[in-house]
Amino acid sequence: MATSLKDKVILITGASSGIGKATAKHFASLGSKLVITGRNESALQDTAGACKGAVDILQFLGDLTEESVVEELVHKTIEHYGQLDVLVNNAGMVEMGGIETTSLEQYDKTMNVNLRVIYHLTMLAVPHLIATKGVIVNVSSVTSLRAFSGILAYCLSKAALDQFTRCIALELAPKQVRVNSVNPGVVITNMHTSLKEDPKQFAEFLEQCKTTHALGRVGETDEVAKAIAFLASSDSSFTTGAQLPIDGGRHVMCP
Ligand SMILES: NC(=O)c1ccc[n+]([C@@H]2O[C@H](COP(=O)([O-])OP(=O)(O)OC[C@H]3O[C@@H](n4cnc5c(N)ncnc54)[C@H](OP(=O)(O)O)[C@@H]3O)[C@@H](O)[C@H]2O)c1
Repeated sequence: MATSLKDKVILITGASSGIGKATAKHFASLGSKLVITGRNESALQDTAGACKGAVDILQFLGDLTEESVVEELVHKTIEHYGQLDVLVNNAGMVEMGGIETTSLEQYDKTMNVNLRVIYHLTMLAVPHLIATKGVIVNVSSVTSLRAFSGILAYCLSKAALDQFTRCIALELAPKQVRVNSVNPGVVITNMHTSLKEDPKQFAEFLEQCKTTHALGRVGETDEVAKAIAFLASSDSSFTTGAQLPIDGGRHVMCP
């Protein structure tokens, strides 16, 4: 599976944790060359250490909401490898709250990290992806496909990301660049633990997840990573503009 990813240059944002970390490890096992990004230096080093099999790994530290950091990321990638084959737009964050409780500051922060950063990085990466007939995989969410209460800004950011995926898939198809997204359900990562719910509430949330996901459980990071690799590889060579739910069937449920 995914032998086409050997020696390919893969840029993964948010690789210091969770889904991004699992994705880096999986691409490494397929013999890819990696650029991994994050803000937490020791966590990023842990990811690099866990990437057994990678041909080469470039670690890049920085906050992607700073425009100069995004510019430097693309510059360093091309300086180091001379090309880019796959861009995985994975870095993201969540703010809880609905229309009555989400401030404009929280809204702006969410849209900035989950959408504007992706727009900016993709814009700068596209000339290099056209040169390699490369691939973009965006990490969206089931929250883009269905309505949820109490997580409004996040839902909006992911819905906009899906439209971004579809629009640029159309724009770039004549240049043989494919663009797709994975749309995970609940996968336990720092994104959940950083919300600092009390342990009892968190346990209740996990219990509830057994009923909100048709397969009766939450997902694992490597289940998302393998789907990202599928969309990045030639195994999905006739797929572009698609949203692939990795959510145990949550998007087809009507509870
Ligand atoms: N977990 C889920 O249930 C779930 C479900 C659906 C979709 N997703 C999506 O999956 C993606 C990965 O999330 P995750 O669950 O793996 O969460 P996570 O463990 O919290 O990882 C988030 C990653 O994004 C990076 N990041 C966040 N803000 C950044 C910024 N301003 N600049 C640079 N890097 C930044 C973090 O870097 P540092 O930690 O180094 O700061 C970290 O590596 C996100 O797009 C998320 O929306 C997650």
